[in-house]
Amino acid sequence: MPARSQSISATTRFAAVFGHPIKHSASPAMHNAAIDRLGLDWRYLAFDVHPDQLAVAIKGAQSMKFLGLNLTVPHKVLALHLVDELDLSAKTWGAVNTILFEAQCASEDWRPLRLCDPDQITALRSHGFNTDADAIIRSIREDLEIELRGATILLLGAGGAGRTAALKLASEGVKKLYLVNRTRSKADEIARELKSRSEHGPQVAIEVGYPEGNIDLVVNATSLGLSPADPLPFDPAQFSLNSTPAAYDMIYRPAETLFLAEAARAGAKTANGLGMLLYQGAKALEIWSGEKAPVEVMCEALRENIYGKV
Ligand code: ATR
Repeated sequence: MPARSQSISATTRFAAVFGHPIKHSASPAMHNAAIDRLGLDWRYLAFDVHPDQLAVAIKGAQSMKFLGLNLTVPHKVLALHLVDELDLSAKTWGAVNTILFEAQCASEDWRPLRLCDPDQITALRSHGFNTDADAIIRSIREDLEIELRGATILLLGAGGAGRTAALKLASEGVKKLYLVNRTRSKADEIARELKSRSEHGPQVAIEVGYPEGNIDLVVNATSLGLSPADPLPFDPAQFSLNSTPAAYDMIYRPAETLFLAEAARAGAKTANGLGMLLYQGAKALEIWSGEKAPVEVMCEALRENIYGKV
């Protein structure tokens, strides 16, 4: 079999992830494994793009007829104002992590670039999606086997990931959401946003602060745990892991944070954020390719890339 680099030709198409920094991204490993499995003449690359250069980098990828892009930290909110079209998912969750480049060929319809003969293209545009929010829920459901409808949940963290998780959990019909964040005003802000959204959607009880009784799930959406020296992401004087049967950490590197180790010790079912990374990538690939993503192959590639051979 020829080396992969030799199989790149003038007709090979590209997708990529833009981030800053980007060098630890596992997305190329995950996507190239899937591209191989699907037998596509595509490659997935990673680029360090400074936020000041994001607009020109997106335009450049579009001009070079990339099929699509993923965007990671710190680009997801910025990109809302840089793409030509926003899918409902991006509008709803207020962030873009996936761009599909679309083209007009003979007809007026905008179609994914993969369906267009490059020689026939008359116009190009960028279409922004959000695949992160669905991925959070799919991962919690599948990895923890938990029913979210009617659940009582403590969510730790009110940054970008915490906000998306709070809004998406509320839309899944959870009964009660406790929000805790180091900077309380940011949790208050999410609570306000949730209350205004629930006037038109699912009802969820929101409280900023720790729960008093038992809950169904605790989710860590803070960055505490990324470093081995980090403390727990909650105040042990105000909350005990004994009061929950399940714990989810959005962090996937390391595989087991102090939070997950303590939760497991307390008898809780645990899962880390690898599933979020996997499912947002799987959905992005489906948007670009129109094919069902080979999730198992992608998961194996991620595990190998992040944790080494197991
Ligand atoms: P992301 O996009 O991953 O959510 P972020 O928006 O920077 O990243 O959010 C980081 C989250 O981790 C925030 O909830 C942050 O708390 P603040 O809003 O108070 O900044 C939380 N966090 C980061 N470092 C923390 C620390 N040392 N102690 C407690 N919380 C921390």
